[in-house]
Amino acid sequence: DDWQDRGAAVSVRQEVDANGKTVARYIKKGVRDFNFGNTLGEGSYSTVVFATDRQTLKEYAIKILDKRHIIKEKKVKYVNIEKDTLNRLTDHPGIVRLYYTFQDERSLYFVLDLAKGGELLGVLKRMSTFDEECTRFYGAQILDTIDYMHKRGVIHRDLKPENVLLDHQMHVKITDFGTAKILKMPRRPDESTSSIPQLDSTDIPEEERASSFVGTAEYVSPELLTDKNACKASDLWAFGCIIYQLLAGRPPFKAGNEYQTFQKIVALDYEFPIGFPAVARDLVERLLVLDPARRLQIEHIKNHEFFDGISWGTDMWKQKAPRLK
Ligand code: ADE
Repeated sequence: DDWQDRGAAVSVRQEVDANGKTVARYIKKGVRDFNFGNTLGEGSYSTVVFATDRQTLKEYAIKILDKRHIIKEKKVKYVNIEKDTLNRLTDHPGIVRLYYTFQDERSLYFVLDLAKGGELLGVLKRMSTFDEECTRFYGAQILDTIDYMHKRGVIHRDLKPENVLLDHQMHVKITDFGTAKILKMPRRPDESTSSIPQLDSTDIPEEERASSFVGTAEYVSPELLTDKNACKASDLWAFGCIIYQLLAGRPPFKAGNEYQTFQKIVALDYEFPIGFPAVARDLVERLLVLDPARRLQIEHIKNHEFFDGISWGTDMWKQKAPRLK
């Protein structure tokens, strides 16, 4: 229960003290500061609800985690990983931002960006497939966000269309960092730290993390299945699966059960549907490469012909999303 909130954002209010001096007061947000609304989503260990800040009326998505359940199911480590990674990834438009964390006797609360457009998977299912223009737009935003994550020393390890949310303007917001891997990197002096002093998620032995990690079968990279080891390139394998899925309407490796899916992945057993665009096919073939060292790297993906016309960087986040068709 030593789940404190060092590094959590707080609101600042200017107040006049007894001597008439203007001082800044730091007020920690808590459950009472929000009005809770409809449930937006449910996971095995959490519920996400719509909420508004009572003072500012700003809308958020609050992820509520049941403390007893998390402790009983031994998921404390993953909750800390999620908090640590989100605190490391605070200034990119493609990441669901963590604003505040707090708790009451029963639950932990993560106050997050509200993504009004829901999951990319839901949008794809409604459309059945995306055309090349839409795939290029969403693909570019996902890739720019992966680039930022990797530069900040975070591997997501569970990228899939369910974890790509869309905001009110249909811009990408990647979520669900509970199974992320934080790479050992020099810390910035102002870095937010783990809730448990002296225990950072990077202190967990590699073997333990690898063997206990379960991603989503269809997007798991071959190196995770054969060596139980994920690297930055593992996120790019998942990215290749997502690009394929947006254009084909289904993921490249899908079978009756997880074991058969894994067999297909390690055998690189997949096919392109008729009519799959040739340039996109070339990109996917350079991403779905068994050897992670030979997989296309981010800078080369950006320069691939499929992304011709994309202006990488902050400008792309000012662009209007193409009409879905
Ligand atoms: N479902 C899960 N997380 C969400 C979020 N941040 N916004 C909207 N719906 C969600």
